[in-house]
Amino acid sequence: MAQIAARKLTCEYLTNPLGVGTKTPRLSWVLESKQRAAKQAAYQVLVASSEKALGDDAGDLWDSGRVASDESLHIIYAGKPLASTQKVWWKVRVWDGAGAESTSEPAMFQLGLLEPGDWKAQWIGKSEAPPEGPLPALPPTMLRKGFKLDKPVKQATVFATALGLYELHLNGKTVGDYRLAPEWTNYLKRVQYQTYDVTSMVKEGENAVGAFLADGWYAGRVGIVQVMGAPPYKLRGWYGNWPHLRFQMHVTYEDGSQATVISDESWKSTTDGPIRSSCIYDGERYDAQKEIPGWDAPGFNDAAWKPVNVRPEMPTTLVAQHNEPMRATQEVKPVGVKETSPGVFVYDFGQIIAGVCRMKVAGAGPGMKLRLRHAEMLKADGNIYLDNLRIDDKTGIGARQEDEYVTKGGQETWEPRFTYHGFRFVELSGVAKGSSWMPTLETLTARVIRSSSPETAAFVCSTPMLNKLWSNILWTQRDNLPSIPTDCPQRDERMGWTGDILSFGQTAMFNMDLAAFMTKWLQDLRDDQATDGRFADFAPMPFDPDKRMSGVPAWGDAGVFVPWYHWVNYGDRKLLADHFEAARRWVDWIHSNNPDLLWKNKRHNDYGDWLNGDTLVLTAFGYPKGGTEVPKDLFGTAFFYQSTAYVAKMAKIIGRSDEAAKYAKLAEDIKAAFNREYVAEDGTVKGNTQSGYALALDMGLLPAEKRPIAAQKMREAIAAYKDHMSTGFHTTVRLMKQLTGAGMNDVAYQLINYDTIPSWGYSIKQGATTIWERWDGWVEGRKERDGFQDPGMNSFCHYSIGAVGEWMVRTILGINPDEMQPAYRHVLIRPLPGGGLTYAKGYYDSIRGRIGVDWKISGDRLSVKVTVPANIVATLQLPAPSKDAVTESGKKVGEREAVEGVTFVGFVPAGQAPAAQESVGYATSAGQGLATFSLGSGTYAFEVAGYQAPAKR
Ligand code: BGC
Repeated sequence: MAQIAARKLTCEYLTNPLGVGTKTPRLSWVLESKQRAAKQAAYQVLVASSEKALGDDAGDLWDSGRVASDESLHIIYAGKPLASTQKVWWKVRVWDGAGAESTSEPAMFQLGLLEPGDWKAQWIGKSEAPPEGPLPALPPTMLRKGFKLDKPVKQATVFATALGLYELHLNGKTVGDYRLAPEWTNYLKRVQYQTYDVTSMVKEGENAVGAFLADGWYAGRVGIVQVMGAPPYKLRGWYGNWPHLRFQMHVTYEDGSQATVISDESWKSTTDGPIRSSCIYDGERYDAQKEIPGWDAPGFNDAAWKPVNVRPEMPTTLVAQHNEPMRATQEVKPVGVKETSPGVFVYDFGQIIAGVCRMKVAGAGPGMKLRLRHAEMLKADGNIYLDNLRIDDKTGIGARQEDEYVTKGGQETWEPRFTYHGFRFVELSGVAKGSSWMPTLETLTARVIRSSSPETAAFVCSTPMLNKLWSNILWTQRDNLPSIPTDCPQRDERMGWTGDILSFGQTAMFNMDLAAFMTKWLQDLRDDQATDGRFADFAPMPFDPDKRMSGVPAWGDAGVFVPWYHWVNYGDRKLLADHFEAARRWVDWIHSNNPDLLWKNKRHNDYGDWLNGDTLVLTAFGYPKGGTEVPKDLFGTAFFYQSTAYVAKMAKIIGRSDEAAKYAKLAEDIKAAFNREYVAEDGTVKGNTQSGYALALDMGLLPAEKRPIAAQKMREAIAAYKDHMSTGFHTTVRLMKQLTGAGMNDVAYQLINYDTIPSWGYSIKQGATTIWERWDGWVEGRKERDGFQDPGMNSFCHYSIGAVGEWMVRTILGINPDEMQPAYRHVLIRPLPGGGLTYAKGYYDSIRGRIGVDWKISGDRLSVKVTVPANIVATLQLPAPSKDAVTESGKKVGEREAVEGVTFVGFVPAGQAPAAQESVGYATSAGQGLATFSLGSGTYAFEVAGYQAPAKR
């Protein structure tokens, strides 16, 4: 029996995907082993044209042969050419170091429609063009067709998409569980199609297909239309005005013959169905009395329905969806409901979520118009707080987040289809006076809707507030994944703001496997790059990036940082190769406008270190009114440097050595210019702000001899701000990391442990269940506005300052990726206890398997359990008084090869920073030395005797 086994087989990051968009997909697996130091010595991939052939070990499409390699990621299919719609089965055999083999369970994938001529279906929409003008939302279209299948069906696959949003039905049932398909892209450049296996939904004989087709992002509202000029605002139609559906079903009969069913002129349409209007931002109105029974089933008489509008082509390109689809991923039950005035019921779900409510009504009779309004917070009087939704009745902008349901009578269950809201509280009103039906706690269930990227991390420690912080960070991410990484789920933005994911990117990739999700979004970002190389402030960018909303420091830089995080976490060379040109053009654009290498020109909307201390209204608490914002040209130049340095690294990785050298030189020159312009002889970074030091240290801009001085000055700047943070979106986690890196972990822990404003703990003390956009979103005792900040910008679900999740993983759990050996081929595990914590445990499910850490302090003993997945190497660093103080499973490990799987590397006594400090960025924790070991895979139980826990500040 081999020591290792291959599991979790994926194709292009997905498990058994349908509709794969390439003929040379990449295959990956995770290795598992119960043994220590288990390695894959070789692999063999078998790809077969049938399950049976694979079972017989016949790789009739591809047999890679035995490949002597430890690689388990991104193995490119190199067999017989695959054809559109082809379904294949595959498995992998792996050998361990002793030559024993094991074979995985089978997996499959099916190709999509890959040739331009594969699409026979027409685009179909409602019969008449929608009216032009700044209209509010329109009713979705219903489309249908009855069709006959002549013989018993062996296999049926649907390929479908829409310019708009769609929900498919076959024979009276909804197809699949995807929400808001085909999701948001720049529809003028590409639209994703979805693939469904519908074999069990169709049958020989009469069948029917139906679809709801709504405006969505394509023809409906998109956020902040007000940036595009004055009223009357364009309230719909940013990509197109008239939604169309494309549907193609491939049927293989039992006898091997084939048939197709496509969208064409034979379909019928109506807009007189139950959904009266739908809008992503404003919500959905549904009149159950207008339901059309049987419309999606065979035998329905659609004579009264209208013909469809048919278009052979639309100005877009169809691409296979390769990110995990949006789904309702979980349900949340209300924790309470109060009747705040007669007939007005306010539900509390105990958690801010993004999604919709499912409503159950029984015996209300017909025609009762029930209204659901969604809010994040309550006002002092117990009613819902809507001010931060920026609703303006005069111009129609804002996000109403309001659903309406008209009852039909009997037992009714409903949830809106083509909208989502950001909320914790829901106000239900409209219950008729004297109604025998009254809402109860069971009436509403909240359903979380997001891209279904798998969650990959867990964290728990001895400080409850930090556990809540972890939960708030994760929830904020769940609430901001509608196929793109958004800023917030509630007000009229919900855009793929680039700066937000730049700051939150590593945290996001710890929390979830975003390999596929980001592959899609980085394409969105490239699609909307301005012609001169500027990346947009958000992607997709429904407005013209050549004219506005592009080219901002730390926003546009996401076009370099996010692919870099992707590389570090997933090691995807193809993604870098696909993206490199775009990243290079961004840096070239900054350079061409700033030949003296300081980003002084063209910073466009120049948001700077957004929401830093200067934007807080905290003078009442004794905080200074200004002086905490890092100068914007310095800020821009730091990002210019870091982007250029990343571009140089990317060039090297993809083998473009001339460019690697060119950009490495440019980065060095920018660094020199930065130091000349912004760093004084005594180490003062211009502006003397916490943020400026955090940036300069974190990006490695300072010469080694100035780093300790700058760290000290950073510490002083914290002291000058009442020992609190004055950092904004882009510098908060950098400050935390650099405090730890400079041996001031006690200060970092102090900041994260606070519950005084501004701090994460403050929001938690006020009952936050997600991360607030502003440190002072709501302040106890503030007289103005019931304690709320300016409603013009005050989201309670914004992940940016939740980027501290990265610090929690890197420092408290101690799990650190290694960019030199990306995708966790090597991991640095270095838990640094502090802040009074007595234990912490958690894991990260890396692309190569689970990395686990579980530490506990009892008296003067530190116990650290570590799990390292098969085939990877970990460097473990433990704070310890001496090398002899460390044991593993009771055995001393301060000698070479003392214990299987553990190699002693070295010990650095207290007070001496490790040699690699500059690159690694962490010094030893106070009073302790640092013992370093190299670990193979396995589960280990280390103990440090004579351990002295750092004092809590
Ligand atoms: C958004 C942000 C975004 C910012 C630009 C805000 O309105 O919600 O999170 O990054 O604008 O500064």
